[in-house]
Amino acid sequence: MARILTGIQSTGTPHLGNLLGAIRPAIELAHDDANDSFLFIADLHSLTQVKNGAELRHNTYAVAAAWLAFGLDTSRTVFYRQSDVPEVTELAWYLNCFFPYQRLTLAHSFKDKSARLEDVNGGLFSYPMLMAADILLYDADYVPVGKDQLQHLEMTRDVAARFNHRMGDTFVVPQEMTRTETMLIPGLDGAKMSKSKGNTLNVFDEPSALKKRINREITTDTTPLEDPKDPDSAVVWKLYQAIAGEAKGQAMAEKLRAGGYGWGHAKKDLLETIVDGYATERDEFNRRMADLGGLDAELSKGAAQAREVASSVLDRVRTKIGY
Ligand code: ADP
Ligand code: TRP
Repeated sequence: MARILTGIQSTGTPHLGNLLGAIRPAIELAHDDANDSFLFIADLHSLTQVKNGAELRHNTYAVAAAWLAFGLDTSRTVFYRQSDVPEVTELAWYLNCFFPYQRLTLAHSFKDKSARLEDVNGGLFSYPMLMAADILLYDADYVPVGKDQLQHLEMTRDVAARFNHRMGDTFVVPQEMTRTETMLIPGLDGAKMSKSKGNTLNVFDEPSALKKRINREITTDTTPLEDPKDPDSAVVWKLYQAIAGEAKGQAMAEKLRAGGYGWGHAKKDLLETIVDGYATERDEFNRRMADLGGLDAELSKGAAQAREVASSVLDRVRTKIGY
């Protein structure tokens, strides 16, 4: 059985792009009986950017509620909050001491973030070693990540190999699993949907808020109602197709090409698909967010399972180092 582990950034309520591009496929993978799966919310990593406790907690809850609302089964996956397993920070320290400073200075994500962010702290710099600790602490075999995380995975393999070489076989050297990015969900403005661009759709929003966002933010051209329209260039159609699926998407495309079906109709159909299609998930998300104690209990259960593995691996490492 292969152990699959991945971390989720906790930067707020996941949007439609996160749900279709990352959460859905990750849940499928986690539920595959051939795998043993670990999934955690990387709230220690978030501290590099967020310094407000209430916001840190809220983000974690929103992410956890979204995954659970989309059907993550915590009897089949160990689901926990990174900060509930403090062993990871100890391991991160050890790894920092086995990894050359010079290699850390080559991290793309640090260069990118230090150019963009105001708060350029030491945590941001050693971020890759905390991520390596996240992975090595659980003897993970495979780590599903997006392309932007490949260099961090490379550093994880590198530090594991350096430690093993120096101190004797200790860590499982993990492999990356790159998601084939089959789905690229456009944002309301047509660019890639992304939190940082303010062009997201939050499927957990109330229908009235969704309606406003769709009507106001999705741009369409001024083709008159009765004229034929080109679906391929329309965000409203792309979003509809991504949510409703191929067959319904084609049906809308035909209506647009035929004329007599306006952008207003398309927006109304899109809204309905989101409101109806995610009704169960929206209710479940709201139910979970109204019961933070329940979410804490769920995450604590995962943390207890995670700590069992973490403490035994950490003992192995301490012994190898000679403590
Ligand atoms: P954001 O760009 O909004 O900050 P993240 O970088 O936190 O999103 O993305 C988390 C995961 O969600 C990524 O690994 C990526 O696979 C997926 N994802 C994000 N935006 C999209 C999108 N527009 N379409 C498809 N998948 C996406
Ligand atoms: N750095 C990852 C991201 O930004 C999140 C993350 C933290 C992670 N620790 C991890 C991903 C361990 C995979 C494995 O998306």
